Amino acid sequence: MPKTRVLVTGITGFLGPYAAAALRARGCDVVTAARSGGDAPVDLTAPGMVAAVLEALAPDFVLHLAAMARLADCEQDPGRAARTNARLPGELAERLGDRLLHVSTDLVFDGRGAPYDEGAAAAPLSVYGCSKAEGEERALRHGGRVVRLPLLFGPDARGRGASASLRHALGQGRPVALFTNEYRTPLHAADAARGLAELVPLRAGPRLVHLPGPERCSRWEFGRRLCAAHGLGAALLQPCECQDPQRPRDVSLAGAFPARRSLEQMLADA
Ligand SMILES: NC(=O)c1ccc[n+]([C@@H]2O[C@H](COP(=O)([O-])OP(=O)(O)OC[C@H]3O[C@@H](n4cnc5c(N)ncnc54)[C@H](OP(=O)(O)O)[C@@H]3O)[C@@H](O)[C@H]2O)c1
Repeated sequence: MPKTRVLVTGITGFLGPYAAAALRARGCDVVTAARSGGDAPVDLTAPGMVAAVLEALAPDFVLHLAAMARLADCEQDPGRAARTNARLPGELAERLGDRLLHVSTDLVFDGRGAPYDEGAAAAPLSVYGCSKAEGEERALRHGGRVVRLPLLFGPDARGRGASASLRHALGQGRPVALFTNEYRTPLHAADAARGLAELVPLRAGPRLVHLPGPERCSRWEFGRRLCAAHGLGAALLQPCECQDPQRPRDVSLAGAFPARRSLEQMLADA
């Protein structure tokens, strides 16, 4: 029997390699795309590109991770954020329907009603959050499926993600300011990837799914616990309060797919 072929977009990003590895571990044939790498090194927002890539790679499913995922980039270029995060998922869903699993974020919420389960209404505060919320809406309208992820962490050679960036700064002896009043449900990228790989072929499952981390914790607490897990001195961690109105204070997720490892186990692996 031929293997299920899955196209993973955003392969050069933080989550991409974790997702590809998790799908391969489940026996899938993985093909990849991103602007700067993968089997299709293309800008998927360019006219005609989605159709061309789907025809060339002929996937059974698409796990769509590609995004403009940095808040500051989206504030600087809302037009590109709209093309990438809002319109591209809609275009993919128009062609793929429920063969699309589109990845979104806890930052579609405003932070005033945590914990958020799948029934909660999106109310984004930032350009990033607005563009991702519109992407969800367009994907769902055309029959696609959506998974919301919380703050991700885990090893990354390029220092991306919540733990690798922190460890990188500490390794260079730089102080790190961490918010005491911003709460998330952080999840190891390998656990997120395993969850996504399970969900990819489940066309009959729920259309909107949350993959929360095991615990709610502040950025400050996360940093302290990461240091404790690895015997790192925490003297360079500096507690501070977030005042930015575009950063929601508590976007803790809840949902039907709870994490399978404790935060301590995940941090030991980060
Ligand atoms: N990281 C987190 O903590 C987190 C939390 C919740 C949700 N998410 C969501 O998870 C997904 C993956 O996040 P990530 O952290 O891996 O993001 P990332 O590291 O910023 O990677 C983004 C990826 O998207 C690709 N991309 C961007 N624009 C593209 C375009 N026009 N055409 C083709 N590829 C394009 C990038 O390719 P190039 O490298 O070539 O530009 C890169 O591979 C995103 O949808 C994000 O919103 C992430």
